[in-house]
Amino acid sequence: MFVALERLINLHDGYRKTFRVNGQALLLLVVDNRPVLLEDRCPHQGAPLAAATLEGDVLRCPRHGLSFSLASGRALQPGCAALNLISLAYEGDRIGIDL
Ligand code: FES
Repeated sequence: MFVALERLINLHDGYRKTFRVNGQALLLLVVDNRPVLLEDRCPHQGAPLAAATLEGDVLRCPRHGLSFSLASGRALQPGCAALNLISLAYEGDRIGIDL
């Protein structure tokens, strides 16, 4: 089942918005014109990532400053789990997820 999150026309570089789907917090970002969807939860200790800083495609968690590649999801520090990147789906003029 497709769950729409946003209209494509509203996506632009720097876009950042959180959603809740089935009790899961999600964060949709547009980085270098590419939409990226991830769980809004830092794999380190669970902080929300909506206020994370972004440099290129590196997301830095506001709580303890760990950094993650948005391209791979991987943590840039050894020993930390990866971001939970979520596949995006498209239907008509909307972007969303397939449940
Ligand atoms: S909770 Fe994100 S770096 Fe610790």
